[in-house]
Amino acid sequence: MSVLVSGGAGYIGSHTVVCLLEQGYDVVVFDNLSNSFEESIRRVEKITGKNVKFYKADMCDPEAMDRIFTENPDITSVIHFAGLKAVAVSTAVPIEYYKNNIGGTLTLVETMKKHNVKNIIFSSSATVYGTPKELPITENSPKGTCTNPYGWTKWMIEQILTDVHTSDPSWNVILLRYFNPVGAHESGLIGEDPQGVPNNLTPYIAQVAVGRRPHLNVNGNDYNTPDGTGVRDYIHVVDLAEGHLKALEKMETLNGTVKIYNLGTGKGSSVFDVLHAFERACGRELPYVIAPRRPGDIDACWADPTLAERELGWKAKRNLDDMCRDSWNWQSKNPYGFKGKE
Ligand code: NAD
Ligand code: UFG
Repeated sequence: MSVLVSGGAGYIGSHTVVCLLEQGYDVVVFDNLSNSFEESIRRVEKITGKNVKFYKADMCDPEAMDRIFTENPDITSVIHFAGLKAVAVSTAVPIEYYKNNIGGTLTLVETMKKHNVKNIIFSSSATVYGTPKELPITENSPKGTCTNPYGWTKWMIEQILTDVHTSDPSWNVILLRYFNPVGAHESGLIGEDPQGVPNNLTPYIAQVAVGRRPHLNVNGNDYNTPDGTGVRDYIHVVDLAEGHLKALEKMETLNGTVKIYNLGTGKGSSVFDVLHAFERACGRELPYVIAPRRPGDIDACWADPTLAERELGWKAKRNLDDMCRDSWNWQSKNPYGFKGKE
């Protein structure tokens, strides 16, 4: 029995591969390295002391997908991380996003079907809720209107996988809706390594802290939140990775169903909360300026994670200080990420 991890060289995938290997799972990884480096796989091997079976392959390539399943007939489940994820870029090149994320998922799922592998865990996102109608957000909160093509790909892939299950109820589909993953493995060997200017808050702060950027732009201080800055549910990437393990265990007990779980901490933190936690982690004040709001941003968003606790036995254990400490540990040891230079 082995688990196929798509996009396993990426940020969340690599942390999940570490957890899987540490739990004794046999793991096969593929990634086209469009937003990652094979070095992350080498680091995963260093952390775990185990070899990783890695394919450089594109999920849009049916022959490459077929080869992976043919060469690894023991694959029983897929954890599907592969996808493009830059919100702003998706607005500029929507066709590329729909083609890669949706087209690639269709090819992957078609290949799974051909090889009679019917268990899939998919990386969805809180973005499918759109502007939340209620806080905290439960899995029963309605799906909303997404503000960008990236978000729509998540929305639609959830629907596609649900339809696949409807057509053949022996499929098990687990949709994990992540809130805001941050932090890094405690070793500092793997972490988030955005290419170009980071879109997300913590990698941006981390690059300010390490001297690569002059200051943080706080995108709006007039939101309807206690300090005026946006509030999100930040979750440590290792907690998130552990959530996938619990989902995989759950999958083994399912008899053909679709399950949806929020993976968050249930606690909202503002931009200033994160900035100050990072200052504690790196031991100095970090410069910031108040900048305009980012189009499409919402005031606040945090999860009700109780369903995952009840049904998966999973609960986030790490707090914001842990997240910033580990993020700083990774960034300070790898100021230019995996490739080591600008
Ligand atoms: P990431 O970019 O680090 O990892 C995604 C990986 O997929 C990359 O290594 C990339 O090279 C690979 N990939 C992209 N297209 C591919 C293709 N056609 N074939 C093979 N590999 C391909 O991103 P991440 O933060 O680790 O996110 C993992 C998943 O979780 C993504 O689907 C993302 O949309 C989703 N997600 C991320 C966040 C977040 O804030 N990081 C939040 C919610 C959901
Ligand atoms: N922010 C800044 N300055 C920055 C970057 C972000 O002030 O340089 C603020 C944003 O305005 C927001 C908060 O920090 O209030 C968090 O922003 P992120 O970009 O880190 O995260 P988002 O909540 O906007 O989006 C993330 C992922 C999406 C995912 C979404 C929901 O990028 O892919 O969480 O889970 F869909």
